[in-house]
Amino acid sequence: MRTTILEVQKLKNRGERIPMVTAYDYTSAQIADRAGIPLILVGDSLGMVVLGHTSTVPVTLDEMLHHMRAVVRGSQSALVVGDLPFLTYTTTEEAIQSARRAMQEAGVQAVKLEGGAAIAPSIARLVELGIPVMGHIGFTPQSVNQIGTRVQGRAAADAARLINDALAIEAAGAFGLVLELVPAPLASVITQRLRIPTIGIGAGAGCAGQVQVWHDLFGLYSDFLPRHARRYLNLSETITNALTTYANDVREGTFPTAEQSSTMDDATLQAALKLVEQS
Ligand code: KIV
Repeated sequence: MRTTILEVQKLKNRGERIPMVTAYDYTSAQIADRAGIPLILVGDSLGMVVLGHTSTVPVTLDEMLHHMRAVVRGSQSALVVGDLPFLTYTTTEEAIQSARRAMQEAGVQAVKLEGGAAIAPSIARLVELGIPVMGHIGFTPQSVNQIGTRVQGRAAADAARLINDALAIEAAGAFGLVLELVPAPLASVITQRLRIPTIGIGAGAGCAGQVQVWHDLFGLYSDFLPRHARRYLNLSETITNALTTYANDVREGTFPTAEQSSTMDDATLQAALKLVEQS
């Protein structure tokens, strides 16, 4: 059975911190499930860490759907949230159509939209139609060309706007809210003022949960490591070493051995060669 949005709310109510991670493919989703992660985000961060773009802006809905499908196939127990990419929810009608594709064509259980109070009416309509929605405020990567990559809400007016955005998104019916690159004291205040869980990334320990990008956690993305990330493994180095050993084994003829090969009896092989000669 998959985690439901009601269970996510219960985790928050019980004061249990909620771990969330991004995943972009079948195998990673299986691993996240095995680790007992209740919430998986198919983030449009895949534009950078999987597709090699410099931001999330070029990611299309079709690309997102491709990865959402793989993650849904790989996970049995996590609630899978699919990011709606840049310019796929510019109107409420477009948001409905994009969310419809994510849920019906890819099978995710919820969608995530970036934006504050301005997007609340669209969120309200999606929720009304039975679509669970996660909000996302603070640094919103799809607006990188407008706001740059920096902590949001440092000035009093910006902090007040973020608090009002958070309240508007909760009032619209979102079941959770990502706070990205928000000063920790402000994120704590927002968390305390909301009934729904906040999920922080670069927003301090006072959030109800945390989300991290798969490739940052495991040292797979070497372009840069955000300050808010902790590298739990250096898989890039581990894989590079293993791959170098594999390449050497191939060059030296020590891979494959009989153990990785299949055999056939010589008489059959000779018969095949005779057939070739006769043809
Ligand atoms: O796309 C993503 O991975 C995200 C997280 C950073 C929250 O939106």
